[in-house]
Parts: sequence; structure tokens; C-alpha cells
Amino acid sequence: HDQGLSQTPPMGWNSWNTFGCDIDEGLIRDTADAMVTSGMAAAGYEYVNLDDCWMAHTRDSNGDLVANTTRFPSGMAALAEYVHDQGLEIGLYESAGTEPCASENNQYSAPGCLNNEYNDANTFARWGIDYLKYDNCGGHGGQSAWERFLRMSDALDQSGRDIVYSQCSWGQEGAEWTWAWRHGANLWRTTADITDSWDEGKSACDNNFFMGVTDIVDFQDCEDMHRYANWGHWNDPDMLEVGNPGLSETESRAHFGMWCLMAAPLIAGNDLRNMSQSTVDVLTNQEVVDVDQDPAGVQGRKVRDDGDREVWAKPLVDNEVAVGLFNRGSSSATISTMAAEVGLPSATDYVVRDLHAHTESISSGGISASVPAHGLALFRVTVNSGGADTRPTEYLSDWHWM
Ligand code: GLA
Repeated sequence: HDQGLSQTPPMGWNSWNTFGCDIDEGLIRDTADAMVTSGMAAAGYEYVNLDDCWMAHTRDSNGDLVANTTRFPSGMAALAEYVHDQGLEIGLYESAGTEPCASENNQYSAPGCLNNEYNDANTFARWGIDYLKYDNCGGHGGQSAWERFLRMSDALDQSGRDIVYSQCSWGQEGAEWTWAWRHGANLWRTTADITDSWDEGKSACDNNFFMGVTDIVDFQDCEDMHRYANWGHWNDPDMLEVGNPGLSETESRAHFGMWCLMAAPLIAGNDLRNMSQSTVDVLTNQEVVDVDQDPAGVQGRKVRDDGDREVWAKPLVDNEVAVGLFNRGSSSATISTMAAEVGLPSATDYVVRDLHAHTESISSGGISASVPAHGLALFRVTVNSGGADTRPTEYLSDWHWM
């Protein structure tokens, strides 16, 4: 499957976190409109993704998938055309088993794609679908995840349409981050479902329903996930909860910044038709988005852990480094690091750019901020003068295993 489709992590929106099963074509059209008018499209958001519950309860007489005609009376091809006319792309959800997850959970009843992969990929292509989130619910018919997910990858290729392939089996099938890219997944879910909360109190390596922002951050760190992401294939720590009621403005900003440091797909999960200015500002802060979309394609990692105070670093192109000072504690704290600790070349001085305040200062190597409770200070740090790259050549290879 073509990993050129996602040279940088995909950006868009998905219906699940806010709307669950309650979706229809009006919502999707209004969301596409809002993605453009809010400035999100200009900031790089592209995919408008329908999650579960778009399908009719049964296949048609030809055995083809069809949209639920009550919710999508105009049909999926017309909806795709509408989204494309706004300059955007459209995604759908399905499952590599006998039924999707909402069906397995008795929220909705619909067929999955197992043993219909080639036909269903052709249906998606005929409708003009650009992105497939492919889940792992329903019966497996005795087939391994590798077999089932590989067959859909091949089917997408054979359909002749460029379709981003988003695998959603999050650890149920072993460590997907070590293998999903081999059969062409452009991204793969690493954790159980996110919920709009800061912390669900899980231990660092626990991956179970439901995950708060810090639980997901911990799980990426526990598994050293930065080693598995690069151009065309990304860890997916699940969709964003920015702007949803369970997170404060400070927490939403920190959540977004941490996802950018982790080179995560940026798939908004809020109601784009009703956003506060603060939510728009977080989602469209171009300097922060640029950290996520940096062409080096390196996922950041934690370089220091002082209890509630963490330092994260993400190498960028041209020897720049994005630095996050992450305060998980319940009171504000000063967090500090040094150029060498975040992997910058040694130099006389550095330009430290604050990506939230959009201000710059010169430093001889210290990077420090007073960070509010549940907050993140985020900087782009560049050698200012006198810099020779003295880093060992293994420096970057330390971030990747491949
Ligand atoms: C699973 C996925 C979620 C969502 C639901 C839909 O739980 O992990 O992201 O797609 O299925 O039923």
C-alpha cells in the first residue's frame, strides 16, 4: 500500500469522539464547511472522516455495502462530491471482522468487511473515498489479523484509488507499531479509546478502556514508540479531544502540543460547527502544527522525567529541536532543560521561540519556563551562532529502529 499518501501525519476530523453513532449527511456537510471557514483547512486539515454507523444494516442484493438511507439519503458518492468540492477529502470507517465495533457493542447493527475486502474496496473507490479507518471488531473467521489487514491493504491497492489506510486494532493483536507498517498501514492505533479527560489514573504501561491524555502519553513512552514512526507510517495515539468538555483550555493546549511532539495524526474530535475562539486558536496554531508536520518525520520522546515535570524533545529538520516542558502536576512549576539534553549541537547561543506566545529570546543553552498545572510550554530551538554540529552520527538513529 502506498505510504507516499502520508509523508507527514494525516490531519482532519472524525465524528466519533463527539457524535458517536449519531451522524448524518447534514452534519458531515456542515463540518466540511466549518473546516474551511474556521481556518482549519488553511492550517492543513484535510480529511472529513465518518466513523462507525454510516452503513445500512445489511448489504444490498449485489452484496455491496450501502449507506444508511435514512441518515444519508443522497448517498455516499454525493456526499464525497460535496466534501471534494470544498477542497477536502473524505474518510469512512469499517471493520476487518464480521461486524463493526458499534454492532458488536449492540449500539447499531451493520456488516463488516471480512471476506468481502476486494468488493468493498472497489465500492469505496467508486464513491470517491480517500481514507479508510479499519477496525478489528466482529468474528475473525479463524483468520489472523495479519491476513485480514493485509488483504484489505491489497484490496485498496487494487481499487486503483489513493486511499489512506488507518489500522485500528490497538494492541489487541500484539504490538502493531512493530508490524502494521509492513503491510502498508499509513497509521495504526496504539491505544484503547481516548476519552475527554486529563488522567484516568492508569499505570504507565496500562492500555485499556478508557485512556486520558496523560495515560496515552505514558503508554507511548512505555513502549518507546518513537522508534516506529517515520515518513508514510505513523503511530496513532487516537483522535483529539481538544475543545471537548472534559478538558480545560490549558489541558486542551497541552494535549494538542503533546500530540504534535509525538508526530501524531491530528484528527480533531470536537464539534467544528460550534468552537470557542480558544479551541480554534489551539487547532490552528501554525507554529505548533508545523512541529507535527515537520518533514524530518521524527517522533519526539521524553528525555527527562522529574515526577510531574517532564521534558520532551522532537528533532526537526535543519538541526532544530522542538522542546516541550510538560507539567502534569496540580500546581504551576518551573521546568528547565539544557540544549545538550534535548540533543542540540553545542553552540555559543540559541534562539528559543515560544510557540504559544510567538515570542523569541536568546539563550546560552538553558530552556526554562513557569508552566501552569496540566500545561505545556512549547519551544522551537535553533542554533543562533557559532554552532558546529558536534553530535555523534548515531544521534538520529537513536530515534529510529529502522
Ligand atoms: C472502536 C474504535 C473507536 C471507534 C469505535 C466505533 O472502539 O477504537 O475509535 O471507531 O470503535 O464503534
